[in-house]
Amino acid sequence: MLLEHFMALLVIMGLTTTFDKHNRHKQHFASLATATELSNIIPDNYEGYDPQFDNATEREIIAALGTTARLHCRVRHLGDRAVSWIRQRDLHILTIGIMTYTNDQRFLARHIDNSDEWVLKVVSVQPRDAGIYECQVSTEPKISLAYKLMVVTSKAQILANRELYIQSGSDINLTCIAPQAPGPYTHMLWHKDTELVSDSTRGGIRVVSEQQMKTSNLVISRVLHTDSGNYTCSADNSNSDSVFVHIIKSEQHAAMQHEMGVRLEVPGLWPLLLGISLLLVLTNLHAQHHMTRPFLVA
Ligand SMILES: *[C@@H]1O[C@H](CO)[C@@H](O)[C@H](O)[C@H]1NC(C)=O
Ligand SMILES: *[C@@H]1O[C@H](CO)[C@@H](O)[C@H](O)[C@H]1NC(C)=O
Ligand SMILES: *[C@@H]1O[C@H](CO)[C@@H](O)[C@H](O)[C@H]1NC(C)=O
Repeated sequence: MLLEHFMALLVIMGLTTTFDKHNRHKQHFASLATATELSNIIPDNYEGYDPQFDNATEREIIAALGTTARLHCRVRHLGDRAVSWIRQRDLHILTIGIMTYTNDQRFLARHIDNSDEWVLKVVSVQPRDAGIYECQVSTEPKISLAYKLMVVTSKAQILANRELYIQSGSDINLTCIAPQAPGPYTHMLWHKDTELVSDSTRGGIRVVSEQQMKTSNLVISRVLHTDSGNYTCSADNSNSDSVFVHIIKSEQHAAMQHEMGVRLEVPGLWPLLLGISLLLVLTNLHAQHHMTRPFLVA
């Protein structure tokens, strides 16, 4: 019985493998067929088929400081030519094919085999990276396509005083904006001190981000003393903004106001009180004087 099952399993396995092989053969033949068809259209030496740029690629790239920028160059009928990326500012050859020819390790060439896409990747974009880059094909004469890289500093800004005093039990609503952020999709993050707010175990926290508007609201309900701290908003890992929130006890708040009120009244009140007491003492003395005289006379 067991043996029968085992044999059946072997047969099924065998069948699947043959089926797999068959399929792979089919695929292989299919790709051979396509290759044959193609070779009928495009001769091996690509004569009459000069490399051509795909002009539809985005050639104005906006990147936020510190992020990774990608410049996409697509070349058809490349044949055995190489695609290079040149920085126009100093005519520095950054990459040839998939090799990097600069000491600056932030420049990388990316290419998927058999694709017509040659990508220049610039990691951790710096302000000095802004400028024109050329995608060049080693034809005779050379052909090239210019790309413009723009670097923006998407400084986040919290719309509030740098120090906030919030009464315990009330709500905090902080608004952060990043008007210069590139593209409609901006990731805005909130930190309290070093902790990511979204990782917090405290309930009653809401972050409402409006990506198109490049704003983010942090709402914390019924704040406690432990909510005091340094709140930071950052957009796309670029420059951030911070405010310090002090949570004050409501009774402490009332006491502080009362104390301030008393202190304010004191300077005005003292001379008046002093005057009144002096007047009272004087009147008293005067009265006593008048009262004792008739007594003495009598
Ligand atoms: C791309 O633009 C260049 C120059 O403007 C032009 O010579 C070439 O034919 C265009 N290529 C395509 C595929 O449109
Ligand atoms: C927080 O403030 C923003 C901007 O003033 C406002 O649009 C939003 O409705 C407020 N959210 C809450 C929960 O109060
Ligand atoms: C708040 O945090 C930011 C970011 O970590 C830091 O740059 C800033 O100095 C801090 N401010 C205060 C008052 O601690």
